[in-house]
Amino acid sequence: MKIITAVLLFVAPPLASGFTTLSGGRVGTKLDAAIFFDSQTGNTEKCAGYLGEASGVPIEYIGDATEDTIKGEDCIIVGAPTWHTGEDECRSGTAWDEWLYDTLPNLGLEGKRVAIFGCGDQQSYSDYYCDAAGELYDQFTAAGAKVYGFTSTDGYEHVESKAEVEDGKFCGLMFDEDNQYDLSEERANSWIAQLKQEGFFV
Ligand SMILES: Cc1cc2nc3c(=O)[nH]c(=O)nc-3n(C[C@H](O)[C@H](O)[C@H](O)COP(=O)(O)O)c2cc1C
Repeated sequence: MKIITAVLLFVAPPLASGFTTLSGGRVGTKLDAAIFFDSQTGNTEKCAGYLGEASGVPIEYIGDATEDTIKGEDCIIVGAPTWHTGEDECRSGTAWDEWLYDTLPNLGLEGKRVAIFGCGDQQSYSDYYCDAAGELYDQFTAAGAKVYGFTSTDGYEHVESKAEVEDGKFCGLMFDEDNQYDLSEERANSWIAQLKQEGFFV
């Protein structure tokens, strides 16, 4: 009996708090998960933080992530800002630009669960809002990934966006820390709940 009590005391607390598994995912998410992002001035990093808090999933700069780490995750959330207005490629102005074309095609991510978020400015860059998130979508789907977490464009005032991959639907969650920073945390919480409902983490 003493032995059983000791085992319960050792095992129960970490399970209750959702401890991190060896490869980074949380027990509560069932599958190993991670959030990879990059950011020039900190806005996308802040939003990645909201998503990490809402999900319990660790966040990491894409430039710091090893290929083995990325391949080892069952599901990944990826996020980028948009900086290069009007270009067709390399829209984020971050490590993603090289990674999407030099690393991703050789990783073998067929069937990988991916959810995408972007960070942009829908007022000043209304014709290009979060275009880099659309570029992530194009490249990850070309690599065979399965994208979860589409959201409605309701509540946004952009004119055009490459992240709007279906009529009225973004390919993921779009943040706007320049004009709607007060909505970001709530948007992150709702999106993680949506991803859970879609079975992204299980
Ligand atoms: C020179 C410049 C170009 C930008 N181009 C775009 C753009 O094309 N589309 C967009 O949605 N936002 C654009 N933005 C806004 C940034 O994407 C936005 O401020 C974002 O929050 C920056 O994220 P970061 O701090 O993670 O780099 C631009 C900002 C600057 C200063």
